[in-house]
Parts: sequence; structure tokens; C-alpha cells
Amino acid sequence: MKELIDKLYKQNILRKDELCALLDNLTAKSAPYLFEKARSVTNRNFGNRIYVRGLIEFTNYCKNDCFYCGIRKSNRNAKRYRLTKEEILSCCENGYSLGFRTFVLQGGEDPFYTDDKIADLVFSIKKAYPDCAVTLSIGEKSEESYRRFREAGADRYLLRHETANPEHYGKLHPPELSLANRMRCLEQLKGLGYQTGTGFMVDSPYQTTENLAEDLLFIKRFDPQMVGIGPFVPHHDTPFADFPAGKLERTLHLISILRLMLPNALLPATTALGTIHPEGREKGILAGANVVMPNLSPVGVRKKYELYDNKICTGEEAAECRFCLQNRMRKIGYEIVVDRGDYRPAKMND
Ligand code: SAM
Ligand code: FES
Repeated sequence: MKELIDKLYKQNILRKDELCALLDNLTAKSAPYLFEKARSVTNRNFGNRIYVRGLIEFTNYCKNDCFYCGIRKSNRNAKRYRLTKEEILSCCENGYSLGFRTFVLQGGEDPFYTDDKIADLVFSIKKAYPDCAVTLSIGEKSEESYRRFREAGADRYLLRHETANPEHYGKLHPPELSLANRMRCLEQLKGLGYQTGTGFMVDSPYQTTENLAEDLLFIKRFDPQMVGIGPFVPHHDTPFADFPAGKLERTLHLISILRLMLPNALLPATTALGTIHPEGREKGILAGANVVMPNLSPVGVRKKYELYDNKICTGEEAAECRFCLQNRMRKIGYEIVVDRGDYRPAKMND
């Protein structure tokens, strides 16, 4: 394992068969060396600084029916909500006073929010908080829509590719959704100058080690500014209710591998990671992540944005999460900073 890890550290890439060998053979004994290498790269590029993004889950209506997702349109038990523009701006106001300088507007694909409405929201947030970055995470749109949002001031876009293998994509989604369209969106987002984030769920149903190697190689080729990965966590009202949750160790291995492949990428320790283990986010940081994304949504709606079961932080106010995370990070020697946390291009590894 050590030779493979050293090779990855030096060359920032491995062959597919080597990635599979690494993923399949890492153990409790060999993984700490990987974590240590990844952490050394993060520390060299970012020091002990952790960036925060304030997540505003502004609608749980969705026209899609992804098999894994708790807010899929077929879930009749989901209690649907939408935040008004005023509510969203008040989340930002609260967030700004808590030191957030990035706001992430995330939601289901909700046709109620027309391009006009989204552009107006982005424009209004940027006008009120010109020193903040706005990230959108609202799914697949036309290039024209992406251009409008960008012109309105959106800086970044998160769109996980979910899996780079078309057959696997077909097992996670209904036939009207395709990997080809997801890829089209990602290319266009990057072309429009968004800082672009992609990613996938770890241990999603039917995922093989080879699929994960394909994900890693796709990400290396696409060279995104951000990569969000977290364990798959089942939701009781979805077709995947009986599949097991993703493994903590597997997720941590993948965070470290991604860090070694993309030394300057922004990698969050996700809420899903914090859901499968009480110290999942701390472990994610110690495996090479450098971003956390606490929730800024009003407490009244948090439980309703239930992508998976037992999601953490659904009862806490934004300020509680902000200070909880600050303490958690301090305990492991890291500091949350008041900063937009923009992507900065690579320095040489050595
Ligand atoms: N609608 C937008 C989109 O599709 O990109 C943004 C919202 S979507 C709910 C955000 C992400 O949640 C998805 O990309 C997916 O990877 C993740 N997600 C959904 N269901 C999940 C589950 N059961 N376990 C873990 N992650 C999940
Ligand atoms: Fe929400 Fe700890 S981050 S309570």
C-alpha cells in the first residue's frame, strides 16, 4: 500500500487498476499513512484554516425522482415547503453576522423558482452582501439559464455527477435522467466561469470498486474546483430504503485520495459524514477535507429537507451549529475563518 500511496502523492494520479487495488486493500493499519499524506497536502496549501459555507435549503419540491433521495417527487409523505425571498435574505443576514461569506442556495428542481426568480434572488444577495460568494445547487438547467444566473452574480455551482458510469447512473435514476445530460451541465458550468463542484455518494446501491475508480478518474480529468462526497444514507420512503448506509472508512479513504489527486480543491466534510458517525466531520478534516457546510435554513423547515434518515442538526439554530463546529474544529487543531474561501490554482507538490 505504501508504494501506491507514495506514487499517488508524487504523481497526483494512479491507473484505474491501481486505484481499485488501493480502495480494496486499505486497512486500519495502512489507512493512517494515507490520511497523514493527504493531511500534509491540505496543511501545506491551506494551513489549519477551514472554510465555511452557509447552506440554505430553500425548497424541497422536486420534479425528479432519484431513487435514493428523500425529497423525490414520488414521496407523498414529504412535507413540502418553499422559503420566500425575504426568508432567504434573512438567513443570509443571520449568516453574515455569524461570519459566513459564502451562501449556498440548494433545493430540489422546483419549477416554481423560474429563472427570473433565481436571478433576482442571486442579484439581491450579491447586492446586500457584495463581499460574499453565492453558490447555486439547483440541478440540471439549460446553458441559457446557467448564463443568466452567472450574469446575475452567481460565483459557484454544485452539481454532483453521482456516478461516472452510465449503467450505474441508470440504476440510481429513472430513465428520463441521463449521465450525458449531467455531464453536459458540468461542462457548460465550467465554460461559463463558475467555480464548479461535482461529487458522488460513497457506497451507493450497486456501486462497485471499479465505479469508484471511474469516479476518481473522471474527477481528475474534469478538474473541478470543489468535490463533495459523502456516504449514501438510506431514506425510509425511497426505493433504496433497505440498502445499507455507506461506510465511514471508505468515505475517509476517498477524501484522502481526492486530496492527493487534487491538492488545491475545496473538499467538504459533509453533513452525511457527520450523520453516520458522531465525529465524522472531524475525521473528514483529518483525512484531508478543508470545508464545512453548516445549515442556515430556518429551524422550522430543516427536518423537511430530509434527503436521508437521521440527518444531523435539524433542531439546532444556525448560531448553534456555527459554534458547535468551531469547537469541534478547534479540538482537532483547526480554525474556521471568515473568508469567501475561493479556489486558488495549484502550487507544486514539493
Ligand atoms: N437538486 C440538486 C441536485 O440534484 O444537484 C441539489 C439537491 S440534491 C438533494 C443534493 C445531493 O444530495 C445530491 O447530489 C445527492 O448526492 C445527495 N443525496 C441525495 N439523497 C441522498 C442520500 N440518500 N444519501 C446521501 N446523499 C444523498
Ligand atoms: Fe449542528 Fe453541531 S454542527 S449541532
